[in-house]
Amino acid sequence: MERFVVTGGTRLVGEVAVPGAKNSVLKLMAASLLAAGRTTLTAVPDILDVTVMGDVLTGLGASVERDVEGGWIGIDVPDEPGVAADGDLVRRIRASVAVLGPLVARCGEARVALPGGDAIGSRALDIHVNGLTKLGAVVDVEAGALVARSGGRLQGASIWLDFPSVGATENLLMAGVLAKGTTVIDNAAQEPEIADLCAMLTAMGARVEGAGSSTLVIEGVESLTPVAHETVPDRIVAGTYAVGALMTGGDVMIRGGRAGHLGIVLEKLVQAGAEVDVRADGFRVVGRDRPRSIDVVTLPYPGFPTDLLPQVIALESISSGTSLITENVFDSRFVFCRELHKLGADLRTDGHHVIVRPAQRLTGARVMASDVRAGAGLVLAGLVADGVTEVTDVHHIDRGYARFVESMTALGADIRRVPDRAVA
Ligand code: EPU
Repeated sequence: MERFVVTGGTRLVGEVAVPGAKNSVLKLMAASLLAAGRTTLTAVPDILDVTVMGDVLTGLGASVERDVEGGWIGIDVPDEPGVAADGDLVRRIRASVAVLGPLVARCGEARVALPGGDAIGSRALDIHVNGLTKLGAVVDVEAGALVARSGGRLQGASIWLDFPSVGATENLLMAGVLAKGTTVIDNAAQEPEIADLCAMLTAMGARVEGAGSSTLVIEGVESLTPVAHETVPDRIVAGTYAVGALMTGGDVMIRGGRAGHLGIVLEKLVQAGAEVDVRADGFRVVGRDRPRSIDVVTLPYPGFPTDLLPQVIALESISSGTSLITENVFDSRFVFCRELHKLGADLRTDGHHVIVRPAQRLTGARVMASDVRAGAGLVLAGLVADGVTEVTDVHHIDRGYARFVESMTALGADIRRVPDRAVA
């Protein structure tokens, strides 16, 4: 166990390069199972979840070669992959449920332990299960695992999602590309990471229309071929640095960040007082005065992303007025507020709302990262708190932020990684 020791009072100034998106690359890795042979992914972030997903694929019979420095990964998928994903690994990352669709589509059977990941809500799988059932699979829970069997090729169908679930859209998309006939997914999630997956699948020979929209139309094909594909930049990492620039009165060039994927986020940061300059190769965020308070409502893309909620609550805790933040995607992301309160933030939660009043000042304390984004939010709060903030359980941050300490240090932050028992 390690922790980050952050000494507040510095501004973030300089440049940061945005790595490939965690929430894309993990699904691109799963998609490699759809074709025998070697898939190569580039712009692969140096994060823990990629390691775990690589182990999941290895357990299914693939050989995984990774160059961490070069940021690429090669996945050799056998003609007949295994169909049972290792339970201990799957429980570590929820994204591993993404192997369900490709395996049942290609092998006629998939067995995936009920997944784990961040403790941020109930996170059911009913939308995945209902969709796969529509495609002709029989899905059961057996000994703590979700088991899907198709007894042959899946059959294309029209599927209306109850909610635009990111994971269910991806699973059904990857199942549909090898199904017989036409699959229509309506009320599909529209996140840029799904458009990225559609781009890779199309390059593999899949026939997908409507990438990035709420209706995906898929004409199933009999087989796909492996490709080389570059992962889309991580909009949540980019957004985290953008919020940090505003909070610290800093000036950060976010190289490789796609402003187009952060429409409402940048709009909100401008309302809060940031200057945002969009350029061809990224965008620059400058914060000058104390941020103004803004209200935020999270929604599926293109709404305000839930994965920037803790960071924006940290921002609001030092803003000049009262703000109302509403979380609509997960049911327990506010665990974070209890930790932020230890730094002196004035927060009141009520159901899926939190009211944030301006704190006189934040002061350093020992706080716990309960999930990847909560951890990032606490580090941002630590940057503006008086004294020293210790963030524990940073393995959560390592799941999603590549070389976070190094990048923050390069921007001028005073942050160190120390073993949990060492004296700071
Ligand atoms: N839901 C159901 N039934 C389902 C599927 C989802 O009720 O069958 C509910 C969930 O319980 C949740 C909501 O729908 O309340 C949204 O879930 P969704 O399926 O959209 O999310 P996910 O695929 O589990 C991905 C990201 C999350 C991100 C969400 C929303 C990955 C690996 N994870 O999760 O990322 O917050 O989409 O954008 O892609 C993170 O990176 O910190 C993170 C949590």
